[in-house]
Amino acid sequence: MEPNTQKLIHSFGALADLGQEIADSGDFMEMVRTSLHLLLGTLAIRRGAVLEVPAHLERTNCLATWGLSPDYGVDYLIDADTKEALVNSIEGVLKVDNDDAGHFDHALQGLRAQQIELIIPMAVHGKLTGLVALGGKASDEPFTPDDLEVVQAMVRHIGVGIHTHRLLAEVKQQAEDNRRLYFDLRAIYRDTVRAFAAAIDIKDKYTQGHSERVGKYSEIIAREMGWGEEEVEGMAIAGYLHDVGKLVVERDIINAPYKIDAKQSSELNRHPGAGFDILSPIHHPYADIPLMAKYHHERMDGRGYPDGLTDLQIPIGAKIVTLADSFDAMTTDRPYKTRRTFAEVIVDLRQNTGSQFDPVVVQAFCRALLKELNGEMTERKFRKMLGKDYLDAERDKPLIVELLLELDPGMQSVTAVGS
Ligand SMILES: [Fe+2]
Repeated sequence: MEPNTQKLIHSFGALADLGQEIADSGDFMEMVRTSLHLLLGTLAIRRGAVLEVPAHLERTNCLATWGLSPDYGVDYLIDADTKEALVNSIEGVLKVDNDDAGHFDHALQGLRAQQIELIIPMAVHGKLTGLVALGGKASDEPFTPDDLEVVQAMVRHIGVGIHTHRLLAEVKQQAEDNRRLYFDLRAIYRDTVRAFAAAIDIKDKYTQGHSERVGKYSEIIAREMGWGEEEVEGMAIAGYLHDVGKLVVERDIINAPYKIDAKQSSELNRHPGAGFDILSPIHHPYADIPLMAKYHHERMDGRGYPDGLTDLQIPIGAKIVTLADSFDAMTTDRPYKTRRTFAEVIVDLRQNTGSQFDPVVVQAFCRALLKELNGEMTERKFRKMLGKDYLDAERDKPLIVELLLELDPGMQSVTAVGS
């Protein structure tokens, strides 16, 4: 085997390893530097440089040098015509002394001053990616055709490395742009949802802030149920939007300062279906938002509306909104009744869990409430929504623990949580 071929194989092995390193560590500049050293070392060349040619710039950008004088600089002007001429150069190796590199004439003087003898363009898919500039051999012997083959092969490898790096950088930039766009869109979506919720609540003057509170209670329950952050956010949105269908119900019925009659009640009961119709055409970044609006008045025992679904037919998200909605209805003043005490709310939950409310959801709600009363939560979310005097830790904790034990007598952790 020719000594040059052996050197070439060895060098390519090292370059392949480096290629892997680029992918792994992204240390692109180190790869270029080491590639240049390998190339110079393989043929015992005194000096050289790897210059990148940025796609939209008319100036080379030096990536690595060896043995060159800093006095002359190594970046050169390179216009579009020159770029094209270099890509099309038939030989692929331009000899500076013989003026083969004539179409690179802006830089010839500088190249000669640096004792550069060869310019080898690097092109991928017909696009100039860079240049390798090489001085003479340490032995002062001329380059043989064999040497030039080795040079071209190794330069091609460096060119592919630069190209790959550019692609990776573009992909990374694209991914970053997409990520930003995604977060911008999510923020716009959330703002729109909040605006929607505010519009719903403005229409219903007696339940100001109801949608927002239902969103927050739903979020608390989902988090306590161990859901992921994405699903928890989705539940907050479902809570904000659950009553969006009320936008199509007459304002007088929504704001009636008395108990409404059967006809008015059936008009009001259109709102879950109307909400589904409003929300379905929208692409939501969270699953099942329209269904949670549609089924937030369904009951486990099948006596709810609009479809009279039973337990397993009702999406768990809708069951969460049901409890959040009812809890807020019980704990806020309405035109025809004042809000219930916490003890009364517990009685209602006890009576209706299993028939109206899902026990799993009620338990999660109670656990979250207990954690706040135990001081385990830094943010007092319930207190913020209920007012600071509504709950009393000493009085209410036993009520919650008792209900939790009734719903799941084997639940040892409750006593630990409630202690
Ligand atoms: Fe509703």
